[in-house]
Amino acid sequence: MPKMVTLTIDDMQVTVPAGTVVVDAAKKIGIDIPVFCYHPKMEPVGMCRMCLVEIGRPLIDRETGQPLLDENGDPKIQFGPKLETGCTVPVSEGMRVRTQSQMVKDARWGMLEFLLTSHPLDCPVCDKGGECPLQDLTMGYGPGVSRFVFSEKQHLAKQVPLGELIWLDRERCIQCARCIRFQNEIVDDPVIAFSNRGRSLEIISLSKPGFDSIFSGNTTDVCPVGALTTGDFRFGARPWELNTSASICTHCPVGCNLAINIRREAKAGGKPVIKRIMPRQNEAVNEIWICDKGRLGYHFTENADRIEQPLVRKDGELTHASWDEALDLIGDKLKDTSPLVTLVGGRLSNEDLFNLRELTAVKDGEALLYSDMAGGDLVASYGLAPGSNFGEMGKGTAILVVASDLHQEAPLWWLRVKQAAGRGATLIVVNPRATRLDKYAAHVIRCPYGAEAETLSAFLPGAKMHQNLREAAAAFAEGENRVILYGSEGLGLQGSRGLAQTAAVVLAGYGKVGAVNNGLIGVWQRANDQGAWEIGFRPSADLAAELSSAGVLLVAAADPAGDDPVLAQAVEQAGFLVVQELFLTETARRADVVLPAQAFTEREGTLISGERRLQRYYPALAPRGDSCADYAIAAQIGQKLGLNLESQHASLAFLRLAGSLPQFAGLTYPRLSETTEQWPIIGRADLFYGGTSYDNHQGLGVQLPLAVVGEAPVLPAAIEAPALAKGQLMLAPITRLYDQGITLEHTAILSQRIAARAVWLHPQTAMDLGLDSADQVEIQLNAATVCAGLQLDETVPREVGLVPRSVGIPLSAPQAAVLVQPAGVPEA
Ligand code: SF4
Ligand code: SF4
Ligand code: FES
Repeated sequence: MPKMVTLTIDDMQVTVPAGTVVVDAAKKIGIDIPVFCYHPKMEPVGMCRMCLVEIGRPLIDRETGQPLLDENGDPKIQFGPKLETGCTVPVSEGMRVRTQSQMVKDARWGMLEFLLTSHPLDCPVCDKGGECPLQDLTMGYGPGVSRFVFSEKQHLAKQVPLGELIWLDRERCIQCARCIRFQNEIVDDPVIAFSNRGRSLEIISLSKPGFDSIFSGNTTDVCPVGALTTGDFRFGARPWELNTSASICTHCPVGCNLAINIRREAKAGGKPVIKRIMPRQNEAVNEIWICDKGRLGYHFTENADRIEQPLVRKDGELTHASWDEALDLIGDKLKDTSPLVTLVGGRLSNEDLFNLRELTAVKDGEALLYSDMAGGDLVASYGLAPGSNFGEMGKGTAILVVASDLHQEAPLWWLRVKQAAGRGATLIVVNPRATRLDKYAAHVIRCPYGAEAETLSAFLPGAKMHQNLREAAAAFAEGENRVILYGSEGLGLQGSRGLAQTAAVVLAGYGKVGAVNNGLIGVWQRANDQGAWEIGFRPSADLAAELSSAGVLLVAAADPAGDDPVLAQAVEQAGFLVVQELFLTETARRADVVLPAQAFTEREGTLISGERRLQRYYPALAPRGDSCADYAIAAQIGQKLGLNLESQHASLAFLRLAGSLPQFAGLTYPRLSETTEQWPIIGRADLFYGGTSYDNHQGLGVQLPLAVVGEAPVLPAAIEAPALAKGQLMLAPITRLYDQGITLEHTAILSQRIAARAVWLHPQTAMDLGLDSADQVEIQLNAATVCAGLQLDETVPREVGLVPRSVGIPLSAPQAAVLVQPAGVPEA
C-alpha cells in the first residue's frame, strides 16, 4: 500500500498516493489545471508553463518538526513568491493549491498570448479545430486580442510529410515534445526529434521510411494542436461533424478498444462513411493507444469490390441471385448430401461461430478452424485468470514469451509486456532469432527452430537445466506469478500444439493456475481464434483431405484456395461449395453459392481476445447492399434444415451461446457493456489532458473464467524436424504485422509498409545457396513452385529461411525446400 498524502486544492481536500503530481491530484477531484506538455502517461518535463498554480506548504517548527499553528489551531501555510508548475510538483502533506487566483489567471493569459505569437491561427482549416486544446484553452483563459504583429509570425511551408502516414504543419507546433516523448518513452521508437532552436525549431523524422513506427498515429492523438495529422484523416472532416460508434479491432488477438468516427458524405450519396478510427480507453487492454494497423486498416470494409448480393453458379458462371434462391439451393443440397464440412476464419464473431457450429452439428459434420496454430483448448483451461492485467504486472511477475515476434504479431501486448518489464517484471524471451522484445528481457534464450517446446520444458519446476538456461529458469521459478505467451513463429499445428502443452505443464507445475496474473496466452494470428476454440472449432492436421472429401463445404471468412494451390485443388474437389465472404476471393470464385457477409463495422457481435477477454462491438454503418451478418446467414441456412437458430439479433444469439457453454454462463450484452472509472481520466471535455482518445462508455468486456480442466496436459512427444535432402533448406513461417491479407490489400495508405512476398535469409545462407546476386528466388516446396523476392537479414539464423505468412507463399508449417535462382538471373 503506497503512502497516502492529503492536500487541499481550491478548498477541496484530496488524498492521493505520495508521488502524485499536483495536476493529477486536482484531476481526481474534478479540478482541471490546463496543461500542454504534461501527459498523464508520460514523465513530466515542465516545458510549457501552462499549468502554473500557487502552491503553499505548512510552515514547520524547526525544533519540533511539527507544523506551526495559527490562532485557530490550523497549520500556517506559506505560499511561495512565484507560481509553480503543477505538472512537476509532487503533492506533500498539508499542501494548499490555488488554481483560480488572479495571479494564476494572469499567468495563463500570458502563456497563451506568448504561444499565439507564433501560431498561424488557421483554426478554420485546421484538422484539430473543434478538439484542439490550444483553441479551447485560449477561449477559456487567453486574450481576445493579440498585442503582437501578425506579419512577424513565423511562416513556414505547410504540409510536410514525416512519412506517408503522418503529416506535419510546422507553424502550428507549440514545441511541447509530447510526440517525441511518446515515441521515445512509451514505444521506444526514437524516430522523430526536434531540429533547430528557437522559432526555427521543428519536428523532423530521423528514419527511413519516414516516421518508421507502428504506433505513429498515437502522436496525432496526444499532439495538443493540429501540427500532426494522419495522412488518412487530414482535411477529411471537422471533428464536430463526426458521430462515434464503439468497436473492437479485428486485426490481432489483443482486442484493442476502438471508436469509429463516421460522417454523412455527399460523395457517398448522403450515406455515412468512416472518417477515422481512434483508440477507446480500456486500461486493461490497450490503455489509450492503438497500433497503426488498427487505426488505418479499416478501408477494406468500404472497398468497391465488396460482394453485395448472393451469387449462384449457373452454366458455370457465378450469377446474381436472390437470398431465397441461394438459400433454397443450399438447403436442398444439405438435405441429401453429406458430410458437411464447415471451415471458419478467426475474424468471425462468437455469435457467428455458435450458429455455424450448431448448423454443422445438426448434420454431424466437421467444424474446422482455418489456422496453423493449436492449443486454444489449453488456453481455455490454463489461460490468464480473471482479474489479470499486464498494466498491474511488475516486480514479482515472470513473463515468458516463446516463439513469437510480439512487436509484429500483437503490438499492444509488446508494449504492455515491455512496460511490465520496466516496472520490474522478469521478462524471459525464448526465440530462435532476435526480435524487438529482446532489449527489455532479463534473459534471452536462443534455440533452434523446432526446439522451442523442448527448451520450454527446462522451465518446469525442478527440471534439470542446461547451463545456459539455468539462470532464466531460476528467475522464472522465483516469480510469485507467471505468465507464458506462446506463438507460432516457425511452427505449424503440430509444433504449436507441443509448445502449448509444454507451457500448460510448466504453469500447472507451479500450482498457480487460476490465480490473478498467472496463465497462458496464445498469440493467435487472428482476432477471434480463441473464441473459435472455446466454441468448439479445431484446426485440421490434414485440411486438404477434409476439404476434398466434403459433400458440402461451407467456408466462412477464410480463403484457403487463395493461400495454397493444394487447398485450391481440395476446395474444387468438394461436392458443393458455399462461401460466406466480403470479397470474391479465390475460394469464392470456385463456389457454387457465394453469400455476402457484413463487415465488423456494419453489425454487432463479440470477440474473445488472447487474454480471454470477451468484448462487444457495435455497428457504425448500415450494411453494404444485401449483405447479412454471418450468424444470420448460418441461421437462415439452418432454417432450411428445420433448425431454429437466432437470425435477427446478435444479442439473442449470444444468449443461446451463453446458455450452452459454462465459461459464458450468466453473461449478457448489457454485462459486457458495463464500465467502471478508469485512470487516468481521458477523453472528456478536457482534451488538453490526455489527448483525443475516447472515454469508454460502451464496455470494458469481461474476462472469462477458466474452463474446467479435462485431462491434465502431458509433455509432448519429441517432434522430428523435416528431413533435409542435399541442397534443401528448412523454411519456417513467421508473422508480419503488415501482410498481404485481404484486409490490408485494400488499405492504400499502408501499401508501402506491407511485407514483401519474399523469403528472408541470412546473407551467408544466400551465398551458400549461390543466391548472392539474385533478388528473386524460386522456391520448390513439396507441392508447389513459387517465385518470391529475397530479403537478406543478418538476424535470420543460418540454418533456416523465413517466410512471412499471408504474402502468397504457401507455407503453414516448417518445410524442406529447394531455393534456386530463377532462369534468366545471372549466376554470381
Ligand atoms: Fe507538441 Fe504536436 Fe509539436 Fe509534437 S508536433 S511538439 S506533439 S505540438
Ligand atoms: Fe488492432 Fe492488435 Fe493493433 Fe490493437 S495491437 S490496434 S488489436 S492490430
Ligand atoms: Fe506543466 Fe507544461 S509545464 S503542462
